[in-house]
Amino acid sequence: MPGFPPRSWGRPRVEVVAVEPTALQVTWVGLPSGPVEVAVEPQRGAARRLLRDSDGGPGGVVVDDLAPATPLVLRVAGRRFDLRTPQLPAGEELCRFATVSDVHLGNPSVGIFHTMRERDDPVDPHPLRCGRAAIREARGWGAELLVVKGDLVEHGHPEQWDMADALLADAGVPVTFVPGNHEVKRSPRAERRDVLDGAEVELVRGVAHRDLPGLRLVLVDTTIDGRGHGAVRHLVEEVADVVADASGPTVVAMHHYAQRFQLPWFWPPGIPGREARRFLDALVRANPATLVTSGHTHRNRARRHGPLVVTEVGSTKDFPGVWGGYVVHEGGIRQTVRRTLDRSAMGWTEYTRRAVGGIWGRWSMGDLDDRCISHDWDR
Ligand SMILES: [Fe+2]
Ligand SMILES: [Fe+2]
Repeated sequence: MPGFPPRSWGRPRVEVVAVEPTALQVTWVGLPSGPVEVAVEPQRGAARRLLRDSDGGPGGVVVDDLAPATPLVLRVAGRRFDLRTPQLPAGEELCRFATVSDVHLGNPSVGIFHTMRERDDPVDPHPLRCGRAAIREARGWGAELLVVKGDLVEHGHPEQWDMADALLADAGVPVTFVPGNHEVKRSPRAERRDVLDGAEVELVRGVAHRDLPGLRLVLVDTTIDGRGHGAVRHLVEEVADVVADASGPTVVAMHHYAQRFQLPWFWPPGIPGREARRFLDALVRANPATLVTSGHTHRNRARRHGPLVVTEVGSTKDFPGVWGGYVVHEGGIRQTVRRTLDRSAMGWTEYTRRAVGGIWGRWSMGDLDDRCISHDWDR
């Protein structure tokens, strides 16, 4: 019977997920059972070797304490990667926060025909396991605040909101929740939860902001009741005011992404191109020291819009199964996207690599530049 867990993990792969100024993350799957040697050889300084056990399934490791702006060679299970750690943004580190998006609590399946499912009915279904592990790893990385960028629940059924309560109550850090289209679906038994009962969560309606050390975080609800795509037309002036009033740089977090073109050329549709461009242009005028980040596409991408950095970060539950980390510096910001390494989460997310005939695995990951960004503010 098909389903998760799969009978085989396919051909061996080793992938560099993140290269940050002081850390890297590498993952593997399909290696022979036994020890995996991970060696980091900087041009200057001593080489380091780590050993991890592999059972043939997915695994990975984070190597910390690297020197910024330094070339290094990474060797894993006979593969060689020539890498260079990026420069740190200017000035001292001031704070860290993390994002998760597209947790989709209550979603049973993946794939065009919803054929990718868990064979057993686990107590901890995969969206909950993956979301919980992502939040735990983001907190371990040092996040002081968690931003949930929409599609936390699949349909908004009461039991899904109960799962959301449990998930966010355990976050261990303050949580801000920006809704996505799945929170405003019109489906049988759906309920719109204004307060998450068990958890201390700020639920964003319209536009909200939080001032963190060195940064104003601006949260924008781009949903339209009952619709899958998003809108910002009615919020442009308000967001521009909040961004302009900040004493320094800003990060704008929202669920829907800014389409480049008027019509979407892939699924799912975001904010139509002309409306999205007017919004981004208004942000440039209001405060060019701004990074805009969204979810919804379940993929990792980054681009520039003039001085703005505009990113999309993937889902916690679909390959590659990630969370986003932001480190605010006095003169800039860095973004990292890391895969959740918890084995119970990574088994599922690795399995979903093969969705859409394997195209999903090549589409969703993006390039290293889409995930890891070291940016000095343009002021
Ligand atoms: Fe989603
Ligand atoms: Fe969405």
